[in-house]
Amino acid sequence: MNDDDLFDQIEQASASVRKAVGTFPKIAVTLGSGLGHLVDELRDARVLDYSEIPFFPVPTIAGHAGKLCTGLLGGVPVAMLQGRVHYYEGNGLDRVTFPTRVLQRLGVKSIILTAATGGVALNLHKGDLVCLTDHINGLGFNPLRGPNDDRFGTRFPDMSEVYSVHLRSVAHEEAMKLGITLKSGVYYAMPGPSYETPAEIRMLRTLGADVVGMSTVPEAIVARHGGINVLGFAMVTNAAAGVTGETIHHAEVLDVAEEAGKRLGKIIAAVVPKI
Ligand code: HPA
Repeated sequence: MNDDDLFDQIEQASASVRKAVGTFPKIAVTLGSGLGHLVDELRDARVLDYSEIPFFPVPTIAGHAGKLCTGLLGGVPVAMLQGRVHYYEGNGLDRVTFPTRVLQRLGVKSIILTAATGGVALNLHKGDLVCLTDHINGLGFNPLRGPNDDRFGTRFPDMSEVYSVHLRSVAHEEAMKLGITLKSGVYYAMPGPSYETPAEIRMLRTLGADVVGMSTVPEAIVARHGGINVLGFAMVTNAAAGVTGETIHHAEVLDVAEEAGKRLGKIIAAVVPKI
């Protein structure tokens, strides 16, 4: 697909959202596995199925509903993306990051990304919440590869502070007030869909990873390219392969994410009015 085609698709998608929703919020939250229930906290909610938005990618896996919800959280307008598509579903990174581009065109200034992850660092345990300080792109591809479209951002965007220091400090402050433990760590993106081997996890730990997942990084890169501030949260849903010797099951990932998601939801609801 050439640049103009992609730009045109993004324009069509944003125009249709704008038509359905009216003024679009400046803050968006991408709800990963197990966090979908956060939309229940929205007041005056409006719900759009991704399938109603032209060209919007529709998730194929359990735990990702595929709905764009807008409403008020703590009195502040927010958009919530209930579910995302992943690289491992067979999508190119332009599809994976299509929703992020649509949010950019709709005028979103801050995005909160959430994801279920495996705990790579030995001080992280099942159920822990982690505020991302940085990431390592282990996908083998960059979503900005190809001709640069200057309407979105610059050719060589700086990535020295992907996850806003300011938003991180707000998150830690609000977590502390709520009495919820929030750790910090570096996210490593693997392509999936197979979970990692113990040898791979040892490698990732040596490389400086604290958590591992199959999303988040392409969205964060594209958001920064588009000048959007990013706050990232990981929920540790399992010890990464080889750490405890337990096998990893998607159903368990969803169960733990559900429980951890309740605590993370409280932090997000407290952070949004402070952005
Ligand atoms: N590895 C990669 N992605 C994940 C994991 C994991 O252990 N758990 C949840 N998402």
